[in-house]
Amino acid sequence: MGSYLITGATRGIGRALVDELADDDLILAARDGNALAALCRTLRAARPMPVDLGRPETIAAAVEEVGLPEHLDGIVHAAGVIKLGRVEELSLKTWNEVFAVNVTAIAELTRLVLPPLRAARGTTVFVNSGAGRAVSGRGNGVYSASKHALVALAEALRLEEPAVRVTSVFSGRTATDMQRELRAYEGEEYRPEDYLRPAVVARIIADALRLPADTTVGDLRVMPRG
Ligand SMILES: NC(=O)c1ccc[n+]([C@@H]2O[C@H](COP(=O)([O-])OP(=O)(O)OC[C@H]3O[C@@H](n4cnc5c(N)ncnc54)[C@H](OP(=O)(O)O)[C@@H]3O)[C@@H](O)[C@H]2O)c1
Repeated sequence: MGSYLITGATRGIGRALVDELADDDLILAARDGNALAALCRTLRAARPMPVDLGRPETIAAAVEEVGLPEHLDGIVHAAGVIKLGRVEELSLKTWNEVFAVNVTAIAELTRLVLPPLRAARGTTVFVNSGAGRAVSGRGNGVYSASKHALVALAEALRLEEPAVRVTSVFSGRTATDMQRELRAYEGEEYRPEDYLRPAVVARIIADALRLPADTTVGDLRVMPRG
């Protein structure tokens, strides 16, 4: 049994990962405190950590409030936001909102959990995206830029923290609320069956967390089979 902190635990990939790790000791983070509390009640050993990652300056207090274990086997940064618009349309507010959740909050939370993560020789998983490798379409600039920044954060951590395993999961389109939003922007129908299942992405993340101590996977590219 391991101890894990999962962000974005209420929906999508993060929520599917909660099912994968249901027998472990969990700290679950998202904004909706009621949804988190209800979810935690269904689990063997889980504690809610309500936090707005759009306000990275509040993360330290949220971490203090929940209390970290001495040893943390892993953290999975599954929370993320997408905002769509061409560069000429994107406001400064939007750039700041997306980078706050998708980059700054992840750096800050990683910093805060490093002591128990090092103690456990634990794993950090960054849920990245194909958009972290290339801009896939018009209107994807700010999201893609944030995911590229997340690549750099992961690589910096890997260089600097030999005691911590660092895995980035570059997921293809996955059937979640976020994908529904993207399809609406593209003016196309959203059919969940066209995309990766969150449960499958979650299983791959769980496998990375549970690797033998002498093994690590760096980058994982996950896509639907053609
Ligand atoms: N769906 C895809 O096609 C796809 C593809 C590749 C990569 N990804 C990446 O996979 C990750 C998960 O995406 P998803 O599709 O599962 O998204 P989702 O279904 O939209 O769920 C997003 C999760 O992030 C949390 N979250 C969002 N903003 C937050 C904030 N300000 N503070 C705290 N929590 C916040 C949400 O919780 P609350 O709303 O309750 O706060 C929710 O649990 C993201 O990093 C995304 O970029 C997704």
